[in-house]
Amino acid sequence: MRYNPAMAGRIPEQFIDQLLTRVDIVDVIDSRVPLTKKGREYQACCPFHEEKTPSFTVSPAKQFYHCFGCGQNGNAIGFLMKYANLGFVEAVEQLADAAGLPVPRTGRAGTGGPDAGQVASLLEVVAEADQWFQRQLREAHAQAAIAYLKERGLDGRTAAQFGIGYAPDGRAHLAAALGTDDAKRRQLHKAGLLMHRDSPAGQGGGEFYDRFSNRVMFPIEDSRGRVVGFGGRILGEGQPKYLNSPETPLFHKGAELYGLHRGRRAIGQAGCSIVVEGYMDVVALAQFGVGNAVATLGTATTRTHIQRLFRLAPAVVFCFDGDRAGRAAAWKAMQEALPEMRDGRRAAFLFLPDGEDPDSVVRAEGGDGFGRRVEQASPLDAFLFETLIKRVDMTTAAGRAGLVALAKPLLAQLPRESLREVLTNRLHTETGLSAHQIDQHRPPAARGRRRPRANDPMRQGQLPPLALAISLLLQHPPLAASIANPQGLAQLDERGSEVLLTLIDRITADPAITTARLLESLRHEASHARLEELAARTHLIAPEALQRQFNDALARLLQTHTERRRLRLIEQIRRESDQAGKRALQRELKALLDARKGAGAGEVAPKAPRHAGGKAAGL
Ligand code: UTP
Ligand code: MN
Repeated sequence: MRYNPAMAGRIPEQFIDQLLTRVDIVDVIDSRVPLTKKGREYQACCPFHEEKTPSFTVSPAKQFYHCFGCGQNGNAIGFLMKYANLGFVEAVEQLADAAGLPVPRTGRAGTGGPDAGQVASLLEVVAEADQWFQRQLREAHAQAAIAYLKERGLDGRTAAQFGIGYAPDGRAHLAAALGTDDAKRRQLHKAGLLMHRDSPAGQGGGEFYDRFSNRVMFPIEDSRGRVVGFGGRILGEGQPKYLNSPETPLFHKGAELYGLHRGRRAIGQAGCSIVVEGYMDVVALAQFGVGNAVATLGTATTRTHIQRLFRLAPAVVFCFDGDRAGRAAAWKAMQEALPEMRDGRRAAFLFLPDGEDPDSVVRAEGGDGFGRRVEQASPLDAFLFETLIKRVDMTTAAGRAGLVALAKPLLAQLPRESLREVLTNRLHTETGLSAHQIDQHRPPAARGRRRPRANDPMRQGQLPPLALAISLLLQHPPLAASIANPQGLAQLDERGSEVLLTLIDRITADPAITTARLLESLRHEASHARLEELAARTHLIAPEALQRQFNDALARLLQTHTERRRLRLIEQIRRESDQAGKRALQRELKALLDARKGAGAGEVAPKAPRHAGGKAAGL
């Protein structure tokens, strides 16, 4: 099950790194092992060993899981490999598939998808554009947009909360303001903010121009709160009414929900999320105090959407237009929800009167009025049966059998929990057919996911400074920013110190890198298993003391190093017979001692020639 380097050539490393940037380990695990939120982390009973109280934890910040009971740990790829008993490549393929990323194929390493560095720089470009759009709304040319928003009843506070902006009328505003050089223009193009027109003669070059013109801009955040795309509404009438960012390496409509990140808290508090269709619905509801609404982005509700919502609260209310299209959309959403209906979860369907949407209803009836409608939404079973019964003639035996035929495949989608029983009973009462006649369907036996493993409790006790520094850095990559003189560490010759230097390099190049991605980039290291252990190790260090502990570890590391060099130099000086050589060594010793006097915590002595030998136990 370990990574087979022979396979590494098939999928470019950058792609794997990009994949780990895109997927959320919480999604990956929760869809297989239901997680419960506990503080900043998620918990469950460990799928890898038998236990009654949960010691399996998943950290969204680190993108890493760890079981305190059996010591298993890893990133999303490692989890899938262990959980589904997959090879590395298979696990990558499954994850990529779920994330909507095509896996770049064999041989042509590096020509695949954009790497994580690129994703990070796209995020930056999009964040910059977001700020720019918001600034435009305060400029004189935004008068019509402001008037439009006012006319729609949007207040300034809500507009600011949602980061609403304005793309000015014309095709060269953003291109000129942010597309300062060719590389930048290509980035903006990749992020979906600029379009490209080839030059007529086809001699290359061509022209970049703004995708969004004269539109009110709604920034779309991913589940981690990073802006990944935009929806732009035309002022007044016109087509298309909303123009959205295209699919980009950052933005996948089928996965994101508008308002999810900023609504998380309200969803948790309400115990319920409300799925609506439009950007303006989410914004208007929030303005009227209904903060737990999210919107799909002009697409049907997907299973990914539903999984994300159920992770935040046990109830989801789908709110649609009462017209045909609305009912069809609700039906589709219900089908996606069925497999997620574990015990304790509820889904309900709210249909608004013809011609109304949540925006218009909340303005007419207020937040409380809308809330009352939400409370009266039809539960999933009612919606399911009402819809099916309309399709058959319940007065005939054939019609009732037809109901069974229609309902059975849907009920089979439900997990074998109480809702399935409730619905099967209901089907029984509706049709008068016996439970036995109905329940001939044998679902596949529950997957044998629990493979007990030998207990392998974490080793406790003090770590040597190098291991402690690596462990803290793996768990809290931003600590790298505090190292006063990272190059100075290059003089370390302790075994394993190159891992520390690699980590610092990686983090410096990509400050937003997570534990999971750092570990993935070190998969080739001989010490990878040890690094995984260090990443998962529990340090009983208060957050405010982290920095100090890290600095201490580095200081101790350098101190030991200096002391070893001092002893070695003294020994060399003693043995050196050539006077010039002796003097050179003495100068080196003096420099070393001077530097030691000057070095503070976390500070590093000036770079000095490396010496072979004297390697201490490293990791
Ligand atoms: P609606 O057409 O129902 O509009 O689109 P709305 O949300 O009520 O918009 P307002 O109130 O007129 O401003 C619902 C959602 O469908 C997507 C958008 O996400 C929109 O919020 N949509 C709609 C598009 O992506 N493109 C379109 O041209 C129209
Ligand atoms: Mn509307």
